[in-house]
Amino acid sequence: MPLARALTDIRSPLAPRFARWATAVAVSLAVLAPRPVPALAADLEAGRRKAVACAACHGLDGNSTNPTVPSIAGQVGIYLHWQLLLYRDKRRVDPQMAPIAAALSESDMADLAAFFAAQRPAPPAAGPPDPARAETGQRLAATYHCDDCHGRDFAGREYAPRLRGLSREYLVAQMRGFKARTRGDLDGAMTQAAQPVADADIEPLADYIGSIK
Ligand code: HEC
Ligand code: HEC
Repeated sequence: MPLARALTDIRSPLAPRFARWATAVAVSLAVLAPRPVPALAADLEAGRRKAVACAACHGLDGNSTNPTVPSIAGQVGIYLHWQLLLYRDKRRVDPQMAPIAAALSESDMADLAAFFAAQRPAPPAAGPPDPARAETGQRLAATYHCDDCHGRDFAGREYAPRLRGLSREYLVAQMRGFKARTRGDLDGAMTQAAQPVADADIEPLADYIGSIK
């Protein structure tokens, strides 16, 4: 299925915003291209070859062992694709990812997203968290309705990313970034969701989410 169709076919409460984004991407591709763009057909095998450039930090199959580098194995494919676009367009700022994303073509991004999305995520490297903190985190996740968007067991849902398997350090850093509005996102949904979260709640949330098997 062509990427733009796959994107607009999604039906959910999040879908109207997403459809607008997908249309914007399709329009910008059409405007920038000198001639009509063929539908982006992701090539998994090409993705596997291109992913060698990512291995030093993300691991060969996208399972990172460095807590400051997110695991991208089994991540929602569309999410991966647009994070690369956000880094390229400097809407998500990171000194390591910026030059990497800037060097990728649209089809590189599609191939890489398809490859990493298809990899099997490893269980979280972190040991079991402090039980009391994890229990508090579980209660907070319900209070803030985090899984409404991120899906059951935080496995990802539609275009919201999988959170299960991300390190506590990375989860904390991203949550602080969304709250401070320094972590760019696609449509503001997550920036908005982070605003009511109390600073003191971020670590227990990460403890809980980071320890889900
Ligand atoms: C030099 C180390 C390094 C290399 C090489 C690297 N990355 Fe990253 N990547 C990072 C770091 C660090 C982050 C987290 C940055 C942040 O906080 O925004 C990241 C974040 C990402 C994200 C966002 C994940 C998420 O959960 O939001 C994607 C997607 C990604 N990288 C893809 C790639 C791809 C594809 C390649 C190879 C073409 C690659 N990276 C190569 C270090 C690297
Ligand atoms: C309204 C839907 C919604 C709700 C509610 C929501 N999120 Fe999100 N979240 C998203 C979306 C969409 C993204 C992707 C943001 C982007 O475009 O980069 C995201 C991204 C994230 C990320 C970044 C993951 C990565 O790989 O970098 C973290 C961490 C996160 N959310 C945690 C939470 C937590 C914790 C809660 C509850 C306090 C929560 N979210 C509630 C929609 C939501």
